[in-house]
Amino acid sequence: MNKLIVGNWKMNGGLADNAALLGALLRGWPDRAAADVAVCAPMPYLAQLQQLLQGTPLAWGAQDASAHPHGAYTGETSAAMLRDFACRYALVGHSERRRYHGESDDTVATKAQRVLAAGITPIVCVGETLAEREAGRTELVVKRQLASVIHTVGHCTSEIVVAYEPVWAIGTGQTATPAQAQAVHAVLRAQLQAATAHADRIRILYGGSMNPANAAELLCQPDIDGGLIGGASLKSDEFLSIIASCPVHG
Ligand code: PGA
Repeated sequence: MNKLIVGNWKMNGGLADNAALLGALLRGWPDRAAADVAVCAPMPYLAQLQQLLQGTPLAWGAQDASAHPHGAYTGETSAAMLRDFACRYALVGHSERRRYHGESDDTVATKAQRVLAAGITPIVCVGETLAEREAGRTELVVKRQLASVIHTVGHCTSEIVVAYEPVWAIGTGQTATPAQAQAVHAVLRAQLQAATAHADRIRILYGGSMNPANAAELLCQPDIDGGLIGGASLKSDEFLSIIASCPVHG
């Protein structure tokens, strides 16, 4: 299975900047990309991505989806609306959503379910804070976060993507070491294997200050199936370099 590299633009970009970034990515696209690649943009730009990326090797997605199907939820965007813009992926449960918007494990699980029902692949983000790691609670926390999604989506578990993003590594320049990341990925893999006979279809991405200097070493770990890239996905040369770091027979 190809590695999966996903850019998370967060609340960055603009019509002109997006066009320039996407143009540079497509011009610099490697002849033999050993990875599936997508970018997750702010909602207002999904139409732009659909227009500029249709028919290219670069897929696109959203950074969130509502837990509700439709109705009086001012400011929210439903999974069905994301499907209108041909999103292939939607992040759910990013730590910034959990932290700044109070999203619980239950809410995240419902979002994953809504996204799947719309025919979109949810990228379910899990990860521990520094305090949780220091208290030796990393495994407990990530397993609890993932268990909630597995419980809710049931037999569709094999259709999700999981992203392990230690909160202390996001946007801090402090990456988990390949061994630290691999250890948590192995725990998540075992949990997925216990939940579904098709766990081999599920990609587990690492996210948190991944950059051209550390990507290759992270991406060659046995249970790291790709990356979720924040800051470095906003610079075409860095994002292309991470894509090029994927082992050809990964
Ligand atoms: P970062 O962000 O690569 O800037 O650390 C990753 C993320 O939050 O998805």
